[in-house]
Amino acid sequence: MNILILGVNGFIGSNLSEFILANKDWSIYGMDVQDNKLEKCLGHPRFHFLEGDITINREWIEYHVKKCDVVIPLVAIATPAAYIKNPIGVFELAFESNLQIVRHCLRYGKRVVFPSTSEVYGMSSDKEFSEETSNLVLGPVNKQRWIYACSKQLMDRVIYAYGQQNGLKYSLFRPFNWIGPKLDDVWANKEGSARVISQFIGNILRGQNLDLVNGGRQKRSFIYIDDAIECLAQIIENKLGCADQRIFNIGNPSNDWSIAQLAETLLDMIATYPGFGDVKSRVKLNIVQGQEYYGAGYEDTNARVPSIANAKNYLGWQPRTDMKTAIQKTLDYYLIGDGAIKSERKTASGLA
Ligand code: UGA
Repeated sequence: MNILILGVNGFIGSNLSEFILANKDWSIYGMDVQDNKLEKCLGHPRFHFLEGDITINREWIEYHVKKCDVVIPLVAIATPAAYIKNPIGVFELAFESNLQIVRHCLRYGKRVVFPSTSEVYGMSSDKEFSEETSNLVLGPVNKQRWIYACSKQLMDRVIYAYGQQNGLKYSLFRPFNWIGPKLDDVWANKEGSARVISQFIGNILRGQNLDLVNGGRQKRSFIYIDDAIECLAQIIENKLGCADQRIFNIGNPSNDWSIAQLAETLLDMIATYPGFGDVKSRVKLNIVQGQEYYGAGYEDTNARVPSIANAKNYLGWQPRTDMKTAIQKTLDYYLIGDGAIKSERKTASGLA
């Protein structure tokens, strides 16, 4: 099977590619503006990479949609701070660029596996968010935080409609706070430039306090990347059409933690790594209001737990990694693994 992955150097793309090359016989054609997370893939005979921008290299994309069996358009800006600072850029990538790719899939009869997002459920009050029955609840237009959710939701609806009206072959997946190696650059040193766990790890490495937005009582269900990638690979494989025309939440309802609990546990766990024994005397927890931290367009959801009934029933999948193990593996990567080596290089070359 030939797979086209756009945004192949991202958190999902790079981890997915490593998994495929190690466990499947599929070939990957990938494009990204960078290749810094692909060190284990570049040079592999089944990995074909073009460094480039999806908004520019349109002919390459159309040619490879024709050539491949499955198309996975992963390009998006997925950090909440960017939804508020650069809402048009977020819309253009999440909606406009992806719409063209989905239309190519329709034209050439190719299957698209499209990343929706847990954000589409917004402020739904359901205890568990269901792909089939939950309402998608977004705030007013002046709350720009929701432009990403809204763009992705419209893509979901367009893909669903193309499926019904024109026979587009598709599967949608909704990541719920995936964490693990290669999530974000922990050295970025900008408030809100990374997802919460990377922001906290980066702050701790720099000896900066951890900001608990709105007190940190809000919860997320975190899932370890390897569990999530196993599920995604099954969706791509699509044995006997089990994933056709379906939506799958990919998350771990058992790892439903508050942000304050995440901050405290990270400090406890980092204190066990060499050189970090005194971390709790250097790094404190600091409460900050959401609109102060992100800007006036911020609004949040207090709870976000996935129903994983579809993934269980149609794929026979369920997550295995508990939260502490997920944190441990993420810390190992950034503190003593490949992520630490990269950070040292960056510091040495003055890029940090
Ligand atoms: C994320 C992003 O929108 C996407 O990456 C993705 O689609 C989705 O959710 C997902 O991963 O499922 P969110 O969970 O709000 O949204 O993103 P984070 O930046 O990881 O924030 C999680 C929570 O931690 C938020 O309540 C935020 O206010 C809080 N936070 C963040 C802090 O308390 N302190 C910080 O320094 C950063």
